[in-house]
Amino acid sequence: MIRSVPELARSVSPGANHFSGWRSPTDKSLDPRFPFSLITASAPRRATLLLKITSGRLEDSGRMQSDTLSVLRISNPHPHDVNTSVLFKYCLTRAGELVSPGMIYDLDATINYLEVGRWMHANGYDTTCRVRQREELFKLAAAQVTQRDVLYLEFGVHQGDATRYWSKLLSDPRSKLHGFDSFEGLPENFLPHRRKGHFSLQGQVPRIDDPRVQFFPGWFEQTLATYTLPAHDVLVLNFDADLYSSTIFVLNTLERAIVPGTYIYFDEFNHRFHELRAFREFTERTGMRCSLLGTSRCLDHVLFQRTA
Ligand SMILES: C[S@@+](CC[C@H](N)C(=O)[O-])C[C@H]1O[C@@H](n2cnc3c(N)ncnc32)[C@H](O)[C@@H]1O
Repeated sequence: MIRSVPELARSVSPGANHFSGWRSPTDKSLDPRFPFSLITASAPRRATLLLKITSGRLEDSGRMQSDTLSVLRISNPHPHDVNTSVLFKYCLTRAGELVSPGMIYDLDATINYLEVGRWMHANGYDTTCRVRQREELFKLAAAQVTQRDVLYLEFGVHQGDATRYWSKLLSDPRSKLHGFDSFEGLPENFLPHRRKGHFSLQGQVPRIDDPRVQFFPGWFEQTLATYTLPAHDVLVLNFDADLYSSTIFVLNTLERAIVPGTYIYFDEFNHRFHELRAFREFTERTGMRCSLLGTSRCLDHVLFQRTA
């Protein structure tokens, strides 16, 4: 059993590709209850590993406030030394023995935020307009269409909070607000705390006192099969179904209706395997170009407009 960092470093002998029996120099420093710990494993001219486990606070409308595991760096890897990566992976697996499921979730969330930031930048989206709340994005879009016959389609209605808000924003009596939802919750697992059936209202449809509002209960695959878009001047799409499968289905189904000028809002864009993936695949396949009109501070709520 190796008990110290120097011992670990000494164990990294040339040609070695296997480390066993290593524990952190002070095992309790990896206890998730401790707010901060640092493991340093270094071997001259080979690698320096820093694993930092910290009690972080990811800014997400105040929702995420638990531990974060971050891998800080590997430096000075020897170009011909495969053991550098073996040591790195080995340390990760040993750290993994001590982390909680919540830390794994937060690490994955960390990568989500990195990825959405990377993707926005790589695709030339200007993310300087960052607002505090999604309602500011709703107002931003509504202010541009206020005198027009708007068709507002919302996918994922739940209790109708967003629909209710939009019903007040859209003043033109010709406008129509159509909401689609199973009202039986998510059709499959999304996150550990949002599994299949989450958001279920047992089929109960919300009531909104506005004759322009109409709900279409059922799975998107069924309700969109018989839905014809009514005439409109401008289309506003609110994607809030959380899941990749639901979002890509609607995007593909509405492809011909998504013309230049269409507003496209996503409510959970920070999940790289869900709404972000659906929009990325859709725009790559169709070649549609959009501009980013605004976003929340952490790029979870995003408002695009098709430009070409
Ligand atoms: C996050 S909630 C919507 C929240 C709502 N937009 C709001 O602002 O309060 C997600 C909703 O998407 C619905 N949903 C997800 N996938 C669906 C699908 N394929 N067909 C029908 N409803 C779906 C769920 O039933 C759930 O009510």
